Amino acid sequence: MRTYLVTGGAGFIGSNYIHYMFEKYGEDIRIINVDALTYAGNLENLKEVENRENYTFVRADICDKEALRKLFTENEIHRVVHFAAESHVDRSIRDPEVFVRTNVLGTLVLLNCAKEAWEQADGSYLPDRRFLHVSTDEVYGSLEEEGTFFYETTPYDPHSPYSASKASSDMLVKAYMDTYHFPANITNCSNNYGPYQFPEKLIPLMINNALQGKKLPVYGDGKNVRDWLYVRDHVKAIDMVQEKGRLFETYNIGGHNEKQNIEIIHIILETLQDMLPKEDPRRKLVSKELITYVEDRKGHDRRYAIAPDKIRAEIGWEPETMFQEGIRLTIQWYFEHGDWMKRVTSGEYQKYYADFYKV
Ligand code: NAD
Ligand code: DAU
Repeated sequence: MRTYLVTGGAGFIGSNYIHYMFEKYGEDIRIINVDALTYAGNLENLKEVENRENYTFVRADICDKEALRKLFTENEIHRVVHFAAESHVDRSIRDPEVFVRTNVLGTLVLLNCAKEAWEQADGSYLPDRRFLHVSTDEVYGSLEEEGTFFYETTPYDPHSPYSASKASSDMLVKAYMDTYHFPANITNCSNNYGPYQFPEKLIPLMINNALQGKKLPVYGDGKNVRDWLYVRDHVKAIDMVQEKGRLFETYNIGGHNEKQNIEIIHIILETLQDMLPKEDPRRKLVSKELITYVEDRKGHDRRYAIAPDKIRAEIGWEPETMFQEGIRLTIQWYFEHGDWMKRVTSGEYQKYYADFYKV
């Protein structure tokens, strides 16, 4: 039985990945989820799998060399899927240090532990071992013109402390592949949305605020463009890269679904109006009047757009969920998980929100 070590599995994409993998492989795989449970990590995301015999949760920081080394010596690990990171750009602008610690140092510690466990005396690696580093399109910087895209060959040009830390971690993975022939892949994906996303990010923040009649804070002119991908399509791509991708390669993942932020907000408002039952009192709260233009994000990247040509041609991956469908599935999920939202937005997050948005 193949064992996966998943880092950051209690976060948004990591938990979606774990659900997907158990649905797909059932009892044929084992997953060890290592997560430090920062503000973004939530074991509630994994309630349905926590009692499985082929699932283990370990609370540990990926910077903790001894804890990770122990995991590799006590378990025969075949795959590493590395999600753990500080992931929110606005937080990185306020407090860059933890981003460098987790995203750069943590990745280095993980690489070293995997290399130590997998490398043989002659410098080759145990068979069927693979490390997948989950990264972002933000490492490529910002596009201005329509019709230009990020390719795997686009030079790195990160602007925020977050993207700089992810770019650094990518460089370390590349260095391990080049120097030690370490068996890895890197994926660079565009903006994800879907179930379990923490409401500091645009889409769940707008859904949550609109349902409560709270202001919808739009940075700058609202015309920054992001390329949105439903999270299940992303986690499927990750699995396909590990199964079918050529080792040492980078694959860009994206849905050719570019939208301005203000368009996204209008779609959310219209979809909420359409989906809320007639008698639901929240229908009266959901309104365009809530849209509020606020100070722009510092160094705000204008446009991201991925060219997913390589992953389509080599691996046969294509996005399956169109935005109109994905946003409905997402809103439906948030309707059904009001308690989840209440719990994650209580306490520390309230303080962050009030301080950041000055409300
Ligand atoms: P998230 O913030 O929702 O989750 C991050 C998880 O990592 C949390 O469970 C947190 O507890 C854990 N973590 C943080 N620091 C840790 C540490 N030191 N040790 C162990 N665990 C730690 O993030 P996400 O949105 O799910 O993103 C996952 C990965 O995907 C990240 O590497 C991110 O850069 C990348 N990515 C995200 C997106 C997106 O749109 N969200 C797009 C492309 C790539
Ligand atoms: O592109 C991939 C990246 O997407 C990931 O690597 C990051 O981990 C993930 O957080 C996301 O980064 P963004 O900065 O693009 O996502 P965010 O949801 O924070 O913002 C999306 C856009 O919406 C961005 O242009 C800023 C804007 N925005 C965001 C918030 C939270 C607003 O206008 N108002 C807001 O309140």
